[in-house]
Amino acid sequence: MDSIWIQGGKRLEGKIPISGAKNAALALLPCALLTEDKLTLGNLPRLADVDSFGHLLNQLGVSTMIEGVRRGEYGRRMTLHAADIASTVAPYDMVRKMRASILVLGPMLARAGEATVSLPGGCAIGDRPIDLHLQALECLGAEIELAAGYVKATAPNGRLPGGDYSFPVVSVGATENALMAAVLARGRSQLFNAAREPEIVDLCNLLVAMGGQIEGIGSSHLTIDGVEGLHGADYDVMPDRIEAGSYACAAGITGGSIDLVGARADDMRATLNALAQCGLILEFHDNGIKVSADGALKPLALSTAPFPGFATDMQAQFMAMLSLADGESFLEETIFENRYMHVPELRRMGAEVEIHGRSAVVHGIEKLTGAQVMATDLRASMSLILAGLAAEGETEVLRVYHLDRGYERLEEKLSAVGATIERRSTG
Ligand code: UD1
Repeated sequence: MDSIWIQGGKRLEGKIPISGAKNAALALLPCALLTEDKLTLGNLPRLADVDSFGHLLNQLGVSTMIEGVRRGEYGRRMTLHAADIASTVAPYDMVRKMRASILVLGPMLARAGEATVSLPGGCAIGDRPIDLHLQALECLGAEIELAAGYVKATAPNGRLPGGDYSFPVVSVGATENALMAAVLARGRSQLFNAAREPEIVDLCNLLVAMGGQIEGIGSSHLTIDGVEGLHGADYDVMPDRIEAGSYACAAGITGGSIDLVGARADDMRATLNALAQCGLILEFHDNGIKVSADGALKPLALSTAPFPGFATDMQAQFMAMLSLADGESFLEETIFENRYMHVPELRRMGAEVEIHGRSAVVHGIEKLTGAQVMATDLRASMSLILAGLAAEGETEVLRVYHLDRGYERLEEKLSAVGATIERRSTG
């Protein structure tokens, strides 16, 4: 198994190209199931989760072809073709590996009239049920059965009628599943209190490019008029706002300056506001945002919320940065329970963090010290990388497979801005 080794204490300076967004890619890939035409997606990040999603689609009968990538280039293009759907069953061994596999449920149901998907089971950052996915599909007219760890959804007479659903809690994944099911329904569907994350906008834009009819894109009220069929498209995945935010924190925690090339400010206002409140200087240019430290980091009070609020996927990285701020910071996690798993590991590096239920108090300290650490989820792993970049001495982050799920060529990007970081094989 690999680990990432860091010699901390280097000030980072330079440019980091921002990759395509993992969470957008995972919602765009299942759209291949909605058409018998070819779908080409560009700017797909080279990540383990994207590969796993491709394998899942292959099992369902979708052919995938990856275009050659030139050395040193990030991202790649993939052409997906679901001429026929060979199987409508997403098995446990795929869904267990990657929760986002549940996103084949809506499109498969819409195209084939039925879909059987394994229940994802527990997850490191909380229970993460799929009840809202199922309720939304039921309101669009699906019949849902649960048996032997699987959910089977069926459209009466082979096609969903469409319908209205009001989400009791904002859910990104459930909004995506409902959208992909509604685009091929017989009639009109309305989604109220829908998620407004930029990745949802990216999904809507692709569906429209494929011939879908969606009103209210970017708002919490989406109206979808079902169409008879969708056609192929050639579409580029949006830049990753969480990757960009994570490298912005790398500039902050190392007292450095990083130009996030390709980052889109409108997708990450809450993160940018928080960085500015921390005392970082932000310079906006045509193709990105430059984030530079300017003296001591200031403490903050932050609460996670659905978009346009502060993203839960940025909480761990900010905690690492705020552990070196000049004073006490307060964080509140309102989206997922159990999303403070990085805290015991950060403490082993010297961070002073108290947890009270869903709140955390971070007492800023002078310095962190390197250690061997491991994390149990993707963003938690990134917070340990950030801590390691600033820490005195050597840090080794174990269980790198978490990072490989969400950060394209992390060690290359950080080395290019001056970090001493390498991947080591631990045998
Ligand atoms: C997506 C992102 C994840 C991000 C999260 C919140 C992907 C692949 N993942 O996850 O990185 O952290 O949005 O921005 O895009 N809930 C239910 N029932 C459901 C669905 C969700 O109770 O059926 C709850 C969840 O437990 C959580 C909240 O709703 O408390 C929000 O979850 P949701 O937005 O659905 O997250 P994901 O789509 O899984």
